[in-house]
Amino acid sequence: MRSQLFRTRITDLFGIRHPILCGGLFWLADARYVAAAVNAGSMGFMTALSFPDDPEGFRAEIRKCRALTGGKPFGVSIAFSDRPGVNERLTPYIEITAEEKVAFVETSGGNPAQFVGDLKAAGCVIIHKVPAVRYALSAQKLGVDAITVVGGEAGGHPGVYMVGNIVQAALAADAVTLPLAVGGGMGTGRHLVTALALGADAMMVGSRMLTATEIWGHERYKQRMIEANELDNRVVMKAFRANHRVLDNATAKAVDELESRGERDFEKYRDLVSGKLVRRAYETGDWSQGLIDLGPAGVFAREIKPVEEIMDQLIDEAAAAIGRIETLTVP
Ligand SMILES: Cc1cc2nc3c(=O)[nH]c(=O)nc-3n(C[C@H](O)[C@H](O)[C@H](O)COP(=O)(O)O)c2cc1C
Repeated sequence: MRSQLFRTRITDLFGIRHPILCGGLFWLADARYVAAAVNAGSMGFMTALSFPDDPEGFRAEIRKCRALTGGKPFGVSIAFSDRPGVNERLTPYIEITAEEKVAFVETSGGNPAQFVGDLKAAGCVIIHKVPAVRYALSAQKLGVDAITVVGGEAGGHPGVYMVGNIVQAALAADAVTLPLAVGGGMGTGRHLVTALALGADAMMVGSRMLTATEIWGHERYKQRMIEANELDNRVVMKAFRANHRVLDNATAKAVDELESRGERDFEKYRDLVSGKLVRRAYETGDWSQGLIDLGPAGVFAREIKPVEEIMDQLIDEAAAAIGRIETLTVP
């Protein structure tokens, strides 16, 4: 593992060596992956919704992660919804997070206000992820401890405004007073230096990590990720204001076609957008079906290798980027 190159408010808050956060990955961010992120000097977040209707499975995975990190603190990721009544199903996951004394919680997807009090009472540090600066400003008032702002390039749900990270991260750094991570389209050490130069305290990665050895997805899926170029993703579900950046496969094209035809009956989409289809793609390696989250930064995932080697690479690249800037600096 590389020695510490940067100290920021995020490295201090999370007690980590490198200012790199590995965001929640639906179905994929399990104990093995998150522990690997933590053991490599970054921070990872285990995705609660990967255990639908199985809170005790989530608890078991938390315990497994604790064993794999040797007791080092780690995170869980909990996605909220702004649709009425949906967040109630998260209550057991919040309770287990608190009971198991998970140190860090990434919240995303909607307003976490309903659960901030319980999580803070349990001693959790909360980092809330938003896709636009305006949400960051509201989140700051909720009592969370840190903010991640992702740009429109992000794999998964980049929000409806789709402002690019190079503009949005600088705006976020000006506007957000809490420790700040920025992400979306970031996947090299040059991006890490950029994030810090823009005024953030850390870079968040998602797509870059999909070919890590510790990601359990099928070998054929990982191979597709390696082959994907920066154009092989598509944003769908814009018609429902639920923008979803995914691999440009048969399902993504089918959804896009329905949207283009003006179809607005969600029932026509239900099977295509089902998370079960995605789970099957990860299990079988048949990546043609399912809305499989991916952003253009996946292009930097050029081989399968352990998380620790990816982190070492990111830090080496960051050091080289700083070295280059120094050679350009007029004495
Ligand atoms: C496969 C995949 C699954 C994701 N699942 C979630 C999730 O369940 N919850 C969440 O908050 N973010 C999720 N994200 C978003 C990431 O945590 C992160 O914010 C995003 O990937 C950063 O942008 P990048 O893909 O350009 O690196 C997912 C991203 C990917 C690529």
